[in-house]
Amino acid sequence: MAIQRTLSIIKPDATRRNLTGQIIARLEQGGLHVIAQKRLRLTREQAERFYAVHASRSFFNDLCTFMTSGPVVVQVLEGDDAIARNRRVMGSTNPANAEAGTIRKDFGESIEANSVHGSDSPDTAAQEIRFFFAEMEIAG
Ligand code: CMP
Repeated sequence: MAIQRTLSIIKPDATRRNLTGQIIARLEQGGLHVIAQKRLRLTREQAERFYAVHASRSFFNDLCTFMTSGPVVVQVLEGDDAIARNRRVMGSTNPANAEAGTIRKDFGESIEANSVHGSDSPDTAAQEIRFFFAEMEIAG
């Protein structure tokens, strides 16, 4: 499989519990390289724009409230088959259904506070990386 890039977010439930380093270690152990990273606090407008694809879902309002409730760490991850690889390392969206040894199984609190986000396709990855990073901030 080819080298890909994907967008990762360490969510407010994880930064609140000081889990940033442990999550980065899981990503690196899973064969992903952090080639860009910054910590920031999303505004409501940014959260709504980032998750616009979910705007019609019942959980959208709560999701945006949660994602603006504390700092996040946004990252570009690079590696072989990085999009699917990151999704395996993260585990299923709902921590209750996530596989043993995954980030969401071990750290996630609920389907909303599930510790990490990862892009779900090459098109989404490119769009989500552009949302947060300028080309000169990415050092592969
Ligand atoms: P994420 O990968 O960040 O993409 C959208 C997020 O919505 C998802 O992870 C979950 O944290 C959150 N979410 C909350 N409720 C639901 C739900 N019922 N189904 C899917 N995602 C949900």
